[in-house]
Formats: sequence, C-alpha cells, structure tokens
Amino acid sequence: MVIHLWLACATPPEGPPATTGTPTTPEAVVAMDPARVAIRASLDLRGVRPSIEEFDRVAADPAAVDELVEEWLHDLRFGSRMADLWSEVYLTRSEAAYYVGPDDYGLYDVSGADFLHSVGDQPLRMLARIADEDRPWTELVTADWTLADPLLGQIWPLEREEGDGWTEARWTDARPDAGVLSSNTLWWRYTSTDSNANRKRANQISRIFLCEDYLVRPIEFDRALDLLDEEAVLTALQTNPACLNCHASLDPLAGYLYGFWYYDYYSVADLTEYHPERELQWGDQTGVPPGYFGSPGFTLKDLGRQLAADNRFAECAVEQATHLLLGRDLVLDDTGRLVQHREAFIQGGATLRALVRSVIASPEYRAGDVDDAVSVPWKLASADLLASQIEDLTGFRWTTDGYDLLQSADVGFRTLAGGADGYYATKGATLPNATLVLTHERLAEAAAAYVAATDLALDPTERRLLVDVDAAETSGSAPSSVRQLQTLHLRLFGKRVAETDPEVVELAALYDDVFAIQQDPTSAWAAVVSALLRDPDLLLY
Ligand code: HEC
Repeated sequence: MVIHLWLACATPPEGPPATTGTPTTPEAVVAMDPARVAIRASLDLRGVRPSIEEFDRVAADPAAVDELVEEWLHDLRFGSRMADLWSEVYLTRSEAAYYVGPDDYGLYDVSGADFLHSVGDQPLRMLARIADEDRPWTELVTADWTLADPLLGQIWPLEREEGDGWTEARWTDARPDAGVLSSNTLWWRYTSTDSNANRKRANQISRIFLCEDYLVRPIEFDRALDLLDEEAVLTALQTNPACLNCHASLDPLAGYLYGFWYYDYYSVADLTEYHPERELQWGDQTGVPPGYFGSPGFTLKDLGRQLAADNRFAECAVEQATHLLLGRDLVLDDTGRLVQHREAFIQGGATLRALVRSVIASPEYRAGDVDDAVSVPWKLASADLLASQIEDLTGFRWTTDGYDLLQSADVGFRTLAGGADGYYATKGATLPNATLVLTHERLAEAAAAYVAATDLALDPTERRLLVDVDAAETSGSAPSSVRQLQTLHLRLFGKRVAETDPEVVELAALYDDVFAIQQDPTSAWAAVVSALLRDPDLLLY
C-alpha cells in the first residue's frame, strides 16, 4: 500500500522534531523481550546474531540494547546490510536479467558468478557507500561519482581509483552524472523494446525512487481502440483520458532515457557505452519530450535533480526503510509513525542511518507477541541473512564454482530459500514455505558438519562455536558437553537454559544415540548442532 505524507511536507526541516502525527501503536502491543530486540537489530544491522558478551550486557541491563543498536549502526557491515535490504527493491542481483556475460568481453577466465556479482551489485554498492558515509540519500540520483570493482574498471568506460575492492570511479564517456541512474546495470536490468519506448524503465524509476508503480493504478480500457493500429495507439496515448492517466507523466520520464537506448542487447559494443547521439530519439519513438510531472528537462542529470527535489523521494525512502525493517506491508495505521520517521530522516541530514535508527527505536519494530491472534510480529530471515548468520556462527558458506548458493537463483537456491530474483519471484517470502524449510535443513546439516569437523580439530580457544566441549569426551551428559549445550542455546537463541532443561537433556540423548552408532564425537556434535541450526528461531526473528 502506498501512503503519501503530503501534509507532512509543510513542516520545515528546521522545525520542531518528531511531534507531528499521532503514533498509532495499538494498546495491546507489549514490548519485545530485550534479548530478542538485540537479535532482531543485530541481524538487521550486521547480518549476524549478537555475541555471548553482547547477550550478557543486555541481561545485566536491558537498556544496553540501545547502546548496542548505536554501535551496530556504525558497524562495518551496516552499508552492506542496507544494500542487501534494498536489493529487494532494485532487483539487480539476478542472473536471469542480463544478456551478456564475461565471454562477450573475451574474459574467459572470469566466472559468470563474478560477473554477476560485479554488475548486479554496482548500484547497490553506491547505496551501501551513501549509507556508510552518511551521505544524503539524494546522492543516489545526483552523485557525480560511481563505484567500480576491478572487473567493471576493466570492461566499462570508467576511470577508477586503484584498489582490490569497490573504489570510487568516474564515467569517462559522455554520460550525464546522475548517481545510480547513470549505471549501466539499471538499464541492462530494465530493458526496452521498440514499442515499449523506455516506458518500463520509466515505471521502474517511479517504483524504485518514488514508490509509485504505475502498474498498480487502475486501467480503464477503451474497447473502441484498435491496438493493432500504431497511429491510433499513439493518438490515444496523448488524447484518451484512459491512457493519459498514466502516460501523460510516464512517457516524458521515458524521454530522458534514450542515451541508454540499445539496438542489440547481445552486443557489448552497444551496451557498454552511453550514446549521447541517441538522446533525442524520443522524437522518433513517441514524439514526447523529456519532462518530470509537468516540468521540462533535457538530460538524465536534470531527471536526477528533479527526483531529488520531489517530496515523494524522501517519503519513498521512509516507506521502503519501514517496510524492509518491519518485514511487512505498510497499512494506513502506520501513517503517523511514517511522519515521525520522515522527520528523523530529514533532521538527520537525509542520512539512511538516521532513518534506520528511528525505525529501530519504534514500538512497531519492538512489538512483542500480541495477546490475541492479531499478528505475531516475527520476521522471516532473508536468504542473505540465513547465509550471513550461519557463516558467522559456523564459518560455513555454501558455494559451488564461486556461486554463493543462497545468492544465486539459477545455480543455487535463492528463490527456493524465499529470496527474490526479480524474475521468478519479485518479492521475498514473508512466511516459511516447503522449499525454504528444505533449503534451511540442508544448509543446517552442511554447516553443522563443517563446524564440528573444524572446531573439534582446534584448541578450544581458537574455536568458533563448540568452545566448551572436551574433544576427547564421548558422553552427551558429561559436564563439558552439558555446558556446551547451554552455551549453544545462548549463542544461537539468546536463551539461558538450566542443565536440567528438557532441551538440554534431549540434545544430550541425541548426542549419545549418534555416538552409539558412529563412535565418533565429531559426528555426534554435527548431529546436535544440525538439530539446533534447524530451529525455527534461526529463520524467524
Ligand atoms: C495504469 C497506468 C497505465 C494506463 C492507464 C495505461 N498504461 Fe500503457 N503502460 C503503462 C506502463 C507502466 C507501461 C510500461 C510497462 C512495462 O513495460 O513495464 C505501459 C506501456 C504501454 C505501451 C508499450 C507496450 C510495449 O511494451 O510494447 C503501450 C503501447 C501502451 N502502454 C499503451 C497504452 C494505451 C493505448 C493506453 C490507454 C488505452 C494505456 N497504455 C493506458 C501504464 C499505463
């Protein structure tokens, strides 16, 4: 649901903070347990669960959660996490989307996985940097810089600072600077046919930056219109009220994008460079010059500035952040809170950090289980989060031929794991489903086998997860084994369980059962850890 905060726009940025609008939390909502707030925020901001020391801080003083949130907001992983969250909006990390690969550039030693990683992530890395460095959100569409890794530096017309990872770069062809709008990635991902005349691209700009998807508006179809008559369609587009409802503003937006007009989507020569000589091609395609909801413009740079100056641009960031962090669609009752988040965002210099801080502090984000069946505010871990938290806990990353199996939809299981690729699934799952549970099960088994084998071969001080167990111990109920089971509960779920807790007793019995068959502590611990990693608490947070 799209909610506009037009009234809020009247509040000047330097006006009084966050008192506009009535918070709309239902009375029945109880606050979430602080340990769970910590898990939720840590996963959202860092992609990993809190450490045992962090859980200890929260246990000693529930208010420590807010200090931790502040630390995590400045964690090195913050920008990347924001990129992961917004990947669901941009939908550029999809191998199905791109027509060309490394072979087309003659790079036979570059894998498809690496190519996809560079191309698909390019605009999202810009978003990550803007988030990390507290740059204003408007730089997304106005920046005169871009980012490139060595591969993109090699294949695209870019002058790039030295370095291994993503470094600042400038386009060296004649393309206008307009942040992510200048990136090849967006226009490789969102293509146009002749008759489409960049309208899909225009709609994606509106969807991504203004939260307005034209395709959700009603279309009243004029049955008298002969869709096979090209002339008649062109006339209808500019005169028929049923078409003008959308096309009056959509087609001018499309007019800005002809520098990225490609004739051959399989030709890297055509796709790589910007084409200033094609900028006026709108004249042949639709005859509708570039313009932004009634204001004229000429280049992509104008479009970037017009977007950045539009109130809907900030409102859209607020809607997206709230939606992505709450893990649910927004409803009318959220309006008051959105106004508060918008104020916090603007007071904070339009930085994503200020906006995310506001959402994480909100009662909606920290709502505990509701007393009746209204809604249990659990969020489903995305495929990215499943991968990053398991890697942090166990050291295991699920890969084949350089493909991260939880990130790839073609080679791996991203879609099966509930992830969106933009082609087969445009929205991430919000509830567990059969394929997600199967993927989770296989991941848990592989990660558990991995961590049991690596940890038990190491000195306890160097281990990752099985820090308490004595590698020579063969009983699940021995003191070191029981202590280990308790520590596992704390590390994984933030729960302190007694030695006699049924969970501990049953896992000790599982250990003994497996040991009786395998006669091997590594296999027995692999079974125990696998059972724990399959817990729904790892999926829902
Ligand atoms: C609700 C908004 C809306 C209305 C109303 C609407 N359109 Fe569209 N139209 C769009 C969008 C959005 C696209 C681009 C869709 C895409 O490719 O993702 C589009 C695309 C088109 C295209 C290009 C199709 C192609 O890909 O080849 C034509 C032609 C078109 N519309 C004609 C019309 C006509 C004629 C009318 C009036 C009868 C009309 N539209 C009414 C939103 C609308």
